[in-house]
Amino acid sequence: MLRIDLRDKRAFVAGVADDGGFGFAIAKALAEAGASVCLGTWPPALGIFEKLLERGKLDESMTLSDGSRLEFERIYPFDAVFDTLEQAPAEIRENKRYRERGDFSIRGLTDRLITDFGTPCLDIVVHSLANGPEVKLPLLETSRRGYLDAISASAYSNISLVRHLAPAMRPGGSFLSLTYMASERVIPGYGGGMSSAKAALESDTRTLAFEAGRRYGVRVNTISAGPYASRAATAIGMIQRMIAYTQRNSPLTREFLASDVGNAAAFLASPLAAGITGTVVYVDNGYHAMGMGVEESAPSRAAAT
Ligand SMILES: NC(=O)c1ccc[n+]([C@@H]2O[C@H](COP(=O)([O-])OP(=O)(O)OC[C@H]3O[C@@H](n4cnc5c(N)ncnc54)[C@H](O)[C@@H]3O)[C@@H](O)[C@H]2O)c1
Repeated sequence: MLRIDLRDKRAFVAGVADDGGFGFAIAKALAEAGASVCLGTWPPALGIFEKLLERGKLDESMTLSDGSRLEFERIYPFDAVFDTLEQAPAEIRENKRYRERGDFSIRGLTDRLITDFGTPCLDIVVHSLANGPEVKLPLLETSRRGYLDAISASAYSNISLVRHLAPAMRPGGSFLSLTYMASERVIPGYGGGMSSAKAALESDTRTLAFEAGRRYGVRVNTISAGPYASRAATAIGMIQRMIAYTQRNSPLTREFLASDVGNAAAFLASPLAAGITGTVVYVDNGYHAMGMGVEESAPSRAAAT
């Protein structure tokens, strides 16, 4: 039987602070396939996440299909906008959510992984995070600072993650990030330079696949996911409208699930996808293929059958 088998593999998933987003769904799918999973959580969200876990608030989502419980091997404090601790301004380092956490930079994370597990120690790295402080502003009104911050947190962070972690990957390692089709088509309301950041992330996926593939033998892909009401997406403020519109106008009108992305990510991370790199994989009920919205009167599957 052909299975996704990730036993003996270790994953690092960056961008999990609750059970409501793609990062959690990916971590869970990787664990379902047998991987051990470490997380990287943004320090401002880490305290709340730890409390949710301690108080058993996530117990239902943490239950795997065989009845066992999802256990994270480590949860590291992780802020993807700093390559080294020295780059973090004093006000961040002294902030109460950061100061007790040690080195939360990408270099610090790399050092902790190597201290905890030796090197090479990783097979799978997932970048499931984004941040655009001016996301609610149209691109036309986005400040230089807001634009560069969006690119820094949402695109450059992936380059830095590949640069730091690729040397700690075992042969056949897989990097994966999450993108959105606002990179290539206009999505009104997805502003602040976030569309530009996703375009950069997708372009970088191709270049990193070549450079890190040649240098380290690793694969680099990105999943372009459909709209989903995660915490980050809800903060943008129009996610329910995006979901309803996309569902109405997609080839598949089934509900789009975070586990759709989790399962695709588990496949892409597995040896079954050994020949796939430098690719944008659409996991969106096929919405990306549409060139025009569906008229209310167009036949749906339900109407046709
Ligand atoms: N939800 C959607 O509709 C949608 C669609 C396509 C792509 N995506 C992408 O999926 C990825 C995951 O987002 P999500 O929607 O599942 O939301 P989410 O809220 O589950 O995940 C975003 C995470 O990013 C973390 N984060 C923000 N800034 C950070 C930083 N500087 N360092 C480290 N972590 C940081 C947040 O704490 C949060 O845990 C993002 O790249 C997002 O752009 C989302």
